[in-house]
Amino acid sequence: MNSSDKQGETRRGFVRTGAAAVTGLSGAGLVAQSNQTLALRGGPKSVTEPAARQAALTRWPQYGDAEKQTILSLLDKANWYPEIPAFEKELREYLDVPFTKAFSSGTCAIMCMLFALDLPRGSEILAPSYTAWATTAPMHLFGYVPAFVDVNPRTMTFDLEDAKKQMTSRTKAIFPMHSFGNPCDMDQICDFAKEKGLIVLEDAAQAQGASLKGKQIGTWGAMGAFSHQSSKTLPAVEGGSGTYQTREYYERATVFSGYELAAQFPDSSPYKKYNGTGIGPKFRIHSLGAALARHQLRKLDEYNALNDKQVRAMTNRLVELPGLSVPYCRPDAKRVYWGSHMVFIDEKKAGCPRQILIKALQAEGVRVSPGFYEDQNRYPLYAEAKWWDHAPVIRKDLFGTKQVNTDSVRLPLFREPAPELIDQYVKAFEKVWAHRAELAKG
Ligand SMILES: Cc1ncc(COP(=O)(O)O)c(C=O)c1O
Repeated sequence: MNSSDKQGETRRGFVRTGAAAVTGLSGAGLVAQSNQTLALRGGPKSVTEPAARQAALTRWPQYGDAEKQTILSLLDKANWYPEIPAFEKELREYLDVPFTKAFSSGTCAIMCMLFALDLPRGSEILAPSYTAWATTAPMHLFGYVPAFVDVNPRTMTFDLEDAKKQMTSRTKAIFPMHSFGNPCDMDQICDFAKEKGLIVLEDAAQAQGASLKGKQIGTWGAMGAFSHQSSKTLPAVEGGSGTYQTREYYERATVFSGYELAAQFPDSSPYKKYNGTGIGPKFRIHSLGAALARHQLRKLDEYNALNDKQVRAMTNRLVELPGLSVPYCRPDAKRVYWGSHMVFIDEKKAGCPRQILIKALQAEGVRVSPGFYEDQNRYPLYAEAKWWDHAPVIRKDLFGTKQVNTDSVRLPLFREPAPELIDQYVKAFEKVWAHRAELAKG
């Protein structure tokens, strides 16, 4: 636990102890709510905001008049392809990275990255199991093998200490994923990679706009990938993009993604000769998607800042409740949120099973669900030797991944200022927590 963690723990401990001394409960909100009847038992719901208003507040993506006008005007044009290089240039400037390339999906961005990597067959890549298919499943297409790494249950992100234990003589790259927008410890990961001669890749699909020490997530590694699928922070219906620190990586990823793209390479490029065929696939982003992405990029920081402000307004109060905490984010990191925001419920400290608390919260009108997320390790693709150069190690000891999936619950992101709804959510939690002992009895 670092010092800022300790401060957080101490502050919460103080609030709990102070209130408990007076009331026998922890937190003033709990006291206020203890006389209220649970909605589960026929009492009034804590969340009274009309359903239509809640649907409007949680609507994502948000395309406005500017996007609609652009799309309509593009439909009347003979050539809309310039939207693609324009997006790539704007993204490059936003990220402050030497090269970017747009693709038809985040998965394609990762496949092009894996092609660009150009390592010998059988090379192992340290990657999380707690991730989407796209981080690890395509590896076999290039002869690579994932070496599954656990996540730190406090951050939900790549556990470097566990990664160190999975190293073999075949390990050549390290591929952290910034879960739900929370930046991995890229400084430490890069230091370790340098020491061991590993290539750093980043799956930043869930973290566009996040940064660590002021440096954009997705630009720490030799290559990075983003997704612009509808749920992401920079949505374009479907799409993806890649970042490259060197021309070599950029040209390899680009030539893999289209038959005509090598035409722009300098004459000295070893890939120029592939103009007309590429390497086979075509992963071009739709021009209308690129146009949407250009608009969304201009609003990315504003959207992310609003999410951050509203999540904090809720969770700063929720962490006063016993057994409830939020994923740790380093003070020198700027995190973003993908799709929802997570809180952890420690059932032992809360004194009530998570599932019962969720049911009671749902009855109060809170849109809450268990925070289960992927554990790639359990899918048949990785267990069948025929797909792989050599069999990936299927791990039964991913305890961090297990813990996150046991403890986390998902809450919605409100995409417009929603102080009343946030207050109603907090009151719902306080009410349920005030009754948690009786709930636990059944
Ligand atoms: C971590 C991660 N990587 C990659 C992807 C793939 O992106 P896409 O859906 O655009 O192919 C996703 C999509 O959900 C993702 O969450």
